[in-house]
Amino acid sequence: MATTPTNNRGTWNTKIGFILAAAGSAVGLGNIWRFPTVMAENGGAAFLFIYVLLVFIIGFPVMVAELSIGRRTQKNPVGAFKALSNNKLFTLAGFWCVLCGVAILSFYVIIAGWTISYFFEQVFYFFGMTDWSAWVANTDNGWLNAGLAILFMGLTVSIILGGVSQGIERAVRYLMPMLVVIILILIGYVMFQPGAGAGFREYLVPDFSVIDMDLILAAMGQAFFSLSLGMGALITYGSYLSKRENIPSAAAYVTGFDVGIAFLAGMLIMPTVYMAQAQGVAIFDDAGSLLAGPALIFQVLPELFHEMGGLMGLIFGASFFFLLSIAALTSSISLLEVPTSYVIDEHGVSRKKAAIGIGAFITIISLFIAFDTGLIDHIDFIFSVIGLPLGGLIISLFLAYVWKTESAKMELQNGFENIGSHWFWPVWKIFIKFICPILIALILATTIYDVIR
Ligand code: PHE
Repeated sequence: MATTPTNNRGTWNTKIGFILAAAGSAVGLGNIWRFPTVMAENGGAAFLFIYVLLVFIIGFPVMVAELSIGRRTQKNPVGAFKALSNNKLFTLAGFWCVLCGVAILSFYVIIAGWTISYFFEQVFYFFGMTDWSAWVANTDNGWLNAGLAILFMGLTVSIILGGVSQGIERAVRYLMPMLVVIILILIGYVMFQPGAGAGFREYLVPDFSVIDMDLILAAMGQAFFSLSLGMGALITYGSYLSKRENIPSAAAYVTGFDVGIAFLAGMLIMPTVYMAQAQGVAIFDDAGSLLAGPALIFQVLPELFHEMGGLMGLIFGASFFFLLSIAALTSSISLLEVPTSYVIDEHGVSRKKAAIGIGAFITIISLFIAFDTGLIDHIDFIFSVIGLPLGGLIISLFLAYVWKTESAKMELQNGFENIGSHWFWPVWKIFIKFICPILIALILATTIYDVIR
């Protein structure tokens, strides 16, 4: 079902197109790189449990909020806050959203670059070019990191130039489902390997005694990062959404899809880590905790594919890293779309100039990170773990107390006529007015208190 664009902003062509694009934004390195890494640092199954809880208690309601603000205002986050309130503080909040997008994208392209280099690592390894495969697998090589980041940013900019439905929508339609199939096949393979059982246990049997404030904060940051929330990516994507679509239902699909893929990625990576141990790869550090850090999946997964060996190893290894690059690309375009649409809407710059200019600016920041990948953890902590929930807090307060839930209801009625008599309405209202802001504020406040104490 094609819908005609309501204005020259462009609209997603189909409902499934929108869901795939939003799911494409959500599903990315957050699910397959960040989720297993953060989980490995935070005690396995207990983290998974808190994470899933926070996705549904905080993430889903905030996603509905972002999409309705976006569709109502047809704007980027700065423009959206401006359109609905004269208070300059909210304009500032809009800038904070744009800044988080810029900061996150600056390290995102580095990790995404690694997905490209490991694609080649698999190919070189298969052809016996071990020097080449070792060279390309070196995540400490600053020049290599820089080159790959520039390449990846170039890809991102070129899709953004195509506009929303031609560029973004077309790219995600077939590639997302392919990624799911590959992960499922790999889980099937890993399941029967020696050592994998310990990994499944670590992943699925929670030890609730490890839950502390650090774990809860990390889980909240992961929920926001993975669902692309808290920086207006979904305000921006919502602005391209047709008035006929049912926002809560679209949000439910996107949330479900994102959690599903993260869960599957964990099912693949945790057992693989332990399987690697059974084969003599060190997976614990001297202090006895699981080796993690940004390069975790890039250390254990290639080993898994080498272990499979031969043509099978090549096929799975190369297609896994290829699809991971695509998943990263469908997320990086949403990260870049936020500052780009801000400059287009608010400063009247053409799409072409905006996308290229901002892409170039962010790439310059990435170059610093390329030569010092230790920066990733710090930027990630400030802008993903603290920044995104802070953005989410502002968005829910803004919706509930400035724009008001009754106005949101009028917007949500487009595509969901009987919302007023549906159980969803009173429940969502309580979440967005009280539960989400109070929980986010409490978790952030406890963290800040811990830091300054
Ligand atoms: N959700 C994306 C991922 O999981 C990252 C992202 C964060 C995209 C914030 C947009 C906004 O990889």
